[in-house]
Formats: sequence, structure tokens, C-alpha cells
Amino acid sequence: MNAIDTAIRAAASSIALKGVTKSYDAAHQVIPPMDAEFRAGEFTVVLGPSGCGKSTLLQMIAGLERVSGGAIVIGGREVQNLEPKHRGCAMVFQNYALYPHMSVFDNVAYSLKVAGMPKPERIERVEAVARMLGLSELLARRPSQLSGGQRQRVAIGRAIVREPGVLLFDEPLSNLDAQLRHDMRLELADLHRRIGATTAFVTHDQVEAMTLADRILILNKGRIEQFDTPKAIYHRPASVFVAKFIGSPPMNVLPVTGDGSVLRLADGQVVVEAPLNGNFVLGIRPEDIVFGTGGPLKARLRYREDLGSHSVLAADLAGEVVRVATPFGVDIAEATDLSLSFPQARLHLFDAATGRALPGAIGAQ
Ligand SMILES: Nc1ncnc2c1ncn2[C@@H]1O[C@H](COP(=O)(O)OP(=O)(O)O)[C@@H](O)[C@H]1O
Ligand SMILES: [Mg+2]
Repeated sequence: MNAIDTAIRAAASSIALKGVTKSYDAAHQVIPPMDAEFRAGEFTVVLGPSGCGKSTLLQMIAGLERVSGGAIVIGGREVQNLEPKHRGCAMVFQNYALYPHMSVFDNVAYSLKVAGMPKPERIERVEAVARMLGLSELLARRPSQLSGGQRQRVAIGRAIVREPGVLLFDEPLSNLDAQLRHDMRLELADLHRRIGATTAFVTHDQVEAMTLADRILILNKGRIEQFDTPKAIYHRPASVFVAKFIGSPPMNVLPVTGDGSVLRLADGQVVVEAPLNGNFVLGIRPEDIVFGTGGPLKARLRYREDLGSHSVLAADLAGEVVRVATPFGVDIAEATDLSLSFPQARLHLFDAATGRALPGAIGAQ
């Protein structure tokens, strides 16, 4: 730990959203009233599809967009009417927004200079941050002379040099190629472990969310679908939306009908005994389906994808496509009949009308 680590850890603040709303125009509320708390020192990922309001939320926290209603409390202080620079937040954007005509040193030092910090102190801080991020050899370069990953690190350096209590990231990895994204993910996780800043990280990438987050806030059209640990979100999705958003391939969902004793698929095949009446959505993850053991459900293999570590079979079942993950190398021809079984302990059940999970009805929840 160096002085900057210690200062940031000490400054780490919680962020509370209290009935926060946002409308850009009167006809359309992008964020309906939202209550949520991002805990001090935690890495919170805000996950959702494009256009669901992730950037809007982050910009309201940073102070780059005004709230239309409600309060934002950072470290116990109401900040929604404060200027961005007085909120104790630093933001890293998708395009990094580095100053192209300035050196790496000046990019990182800029906010300290604006804040009037004396030069010797500035140099000391920038050098400490550069050491932390592996930028010491690059301080004289311009952004155009850096790789994508190095630019990313400069943007992070610029954000943390002021020792903020809150770090905000808006899709910072989405312009990078797959290998670099992976490397940067590890670096970000490592940085977070070291500096312990309260972090809010926006992405539409569920792998980033699952691997980086202490807790994931899943957003759908401006509303919170679920806000919980990656493990809980994976194993106990609160809605069909979450179930279908998380996992690769995602959870299979099938319409089922209960007659008071069993749940049936659309073609009448019985999935499980349950004393339920009405229409439901049944969920099962591809890796939880057992096949080739004379299971009770009849399906037909449509195609397979071999991914090296495992294969994914896509099969027609009761008019739906169901994906089944199998170990790589299991030999099975296309267009053959499959026997599947759905272990009851792995089933998820959702209300057909609302899409919300029905915990305890059957199986996994
Ligand atoms: N400055 C703006 N003026 C009007 N509408 C906006 C503005 N910024 C975002 N929106 C709208 O708000 C919604 C959420 O946008 P955004 O927060 O950028 O979503 P995300 O970051 O999840 O992709 C979208 O429908 C978008 O078109
Ligand atoms: Mg966005």
C-alpha cells in the first residue's frame, strides 16, 4: 500500500439513491423512482441492455446530468445540487477522453493543476499513480503513442490521482479487443482489491459483470430487476429478464401449464409434479439438463456448436429451442432424437404474467 491507496480507501463513500428519477422530456421517464445503495468500498456493476438508462444513472451520480426528482447521498452528504467537482467522484468514460496534445504526465496531472496543487506535490502524486498502473516509462508520451490498454490505464490514473471516494466507469472496456478486455478486467479487479474505492461500473457485458462485481444491479428500462451478488443472480434470478440475461448460453425458458398435479410443456409432455394451476414460465440452465440417459422428455437435435471446452446442443422441444451444454467430444449426430431430463432441484419457476420468480414453488428457488 502506498499513500494514494490509503487515502482512497479512507475516502471510500457509500452512494444512496433515494427516489431518483430522470426524464429528458415530459412524455418519457427514463428512470422511474429508484432506491438503491452502493455500499462503501464495494465494486457495483450496473448491467443492462443498451438504452436501459445505465449512462444516465452514472451521469446523475457524477453530476453531469441533473436528477428530475429525488436525492443522491454520497458519504452521508446530499449531492444532487452540487457541481461535479464537489461530489468526490471521478469518472472514466468509454472513449477515455484523454487530451491528445498533452503528455501522459500532463493528462494525469491536469486536475491537480486545476485544483492548485503545488508542483512538487503534483509530481509526487503522478509518479505514485504511474507506478501503481505500470505507466512510469510512458509519462512523456502522447496518447496517440499508446496502445488501447495503456490509454485505458492513463484514463484510470487521471481518475484516481485526486483520491476520489467514488470511481465511476462507463463501459471502459467496450472499445478493446477480446484479449485486452480480459487482461484489463484482471487489472481492474486487482486495482480494486488494492485501493478499495467505492466503484460503480456500467456495462452491457454479463461476463464483465459476473467477474468484477461484488454486487450486480440489473437494469431493465430504468427499473431495477435485481440487485444482488453474482452468485445469487446466477442461481436465483428474480425474473425471466435476469434469467435470460445471465449465463452463456443463457437459461432456457419454456411456457408450462399446471393442472393442479403436474406441469406440462406446450405439447403435453410432463416436466415435473407440482400442485400448481395456471400458466408459468419454467427455467433451466443449459448445463443443468441431463441428456442421453433415457430421460423422459423427447427432443430432436437441431444443431451443435463445439466450443473446445464443451459443446452446446440446440434441440427442438415442444416447439421451443432448448440449449444443452455437454462435455466436448460427446459424439452425437445432428437430427437425432434426444431423451432429456430436467433435474427438479435445478428448475426455476416464474409467473407467466409478471415474469417474477416464484421462490419455493419447485426446484432451485
Ligand atoms: N441527452 C439525452 N436527451 C434525450 N434522451 C436521452 C439523452 N441521453 C439518453 N437519452 C435516452 O435515455 C435512455 C437511456 O439512455 P442511456 O442512459 O444512454 O442508456 P444506456 O447507457 O443504458 O445505453 C435512452 O432511451 C436514450 O435515448
Ligand atoms: Mg451508455
